[in-house]
Amino acid sequence: MLRVSDLVVRYGAIQAVRGIALDIAQGEIVALIGANGAGKTTVARAIVGLLPYRGEVAFEGEVLKPNSAERNLRRGVALVPEGRGILGTMTVQDNLLMGLYTRRDRAQAAKDLAALLERFSILAERRNLLASLMSGGEQQMLAIARALLSKPKLLLLDEPSLGLAPKMTDAVFAMIQDLRREGLTVLLVEQKARQTLKIADRAYLMETGRVITSGPASELIDDPVVSETFLGGRAAPVTSTHAG
Ligand SMILES: Nc1ncnc2c1ncn2[C@@H]1O[C@H](COP(=O)(O)OP(=O)(O)O)[C@@H](O)[C@H]1O
Ligand SMILES: [Mg+2]
Repeated sequence: MLRVSDLVVRYGAIQAVRGIALDIAQGEIVALIGANGAGKTTVARAIVGLLPYRGEVAFEGEVLKPNSAERNLRRGVALVPEGRGILGTMTVQDNLLMGLYTRRDRAQAAKDLAALLERFSILAERRNLLASLMSGGEQQMLAIARALLSKPKLLLLDEPSLGLAPKMTDAVFAMIQDLRREGLTVLLVEQKARQTLKIADRAYLMETGRVITSGPASELIDDPVVSETFLGGRAAPVTSTHAG
């Protein structure tokens, strides 16, 4: 569904992404995992067309152009940005309406909004509340719901768990799995490697602008090198001595 090849992105003299390749098949949850500064956000923003880049991004067999975010959104490639991109001084409802701006099928769009509010009852209850008054988890739900209103085929989520309590992270990850079951394809950008590998089919691990490992998530989670680098080391041996 998505094929990224030789992707290079620079910010002036800084080469943030140094030639990466990445594939996503229809119906997969693919994870892009790396520490702060690895280049994950840059990759996500390049894919959806929010940045200039070198290399190629192809979606459903067609080459996408850099700096063409709105066109890509209409084609079905949507991003829930890092930090959520919610407008706090607007109501929940108005934030959701922003998600409809690419839709030309107004009648169907209105139906989709109604269906969405039925599905996310928290958002329905809070529809007239300022978005900034909601919890972090609720704001993340709002950001995802808003992106869904553009009817994406491929949804990129940039660190949806950032700043969330563990329970809320679980809820957001469960929601991502629900969306996949409903046919959505997902690129999940995360720092929380272990939890992400548990719900992903495959993963790419990034370090300083490069993909250093990739493969099925179930294999990566047991890989000792991956464990050292991304999962905070292996569990201490059970035979270790007692402290003091
Ligand atoms: N707007 C920018 N201008 C200059 N450098 C940037 C900008 N955004 C990110 N960078 C740099 O690019 C690198 C990758 O950043 P980013 O893609 O945000 O990584 P991640 O999302 O993995 O934390 C970092 O070294 C970061 O400092
Ligand atoms: Mg980032």
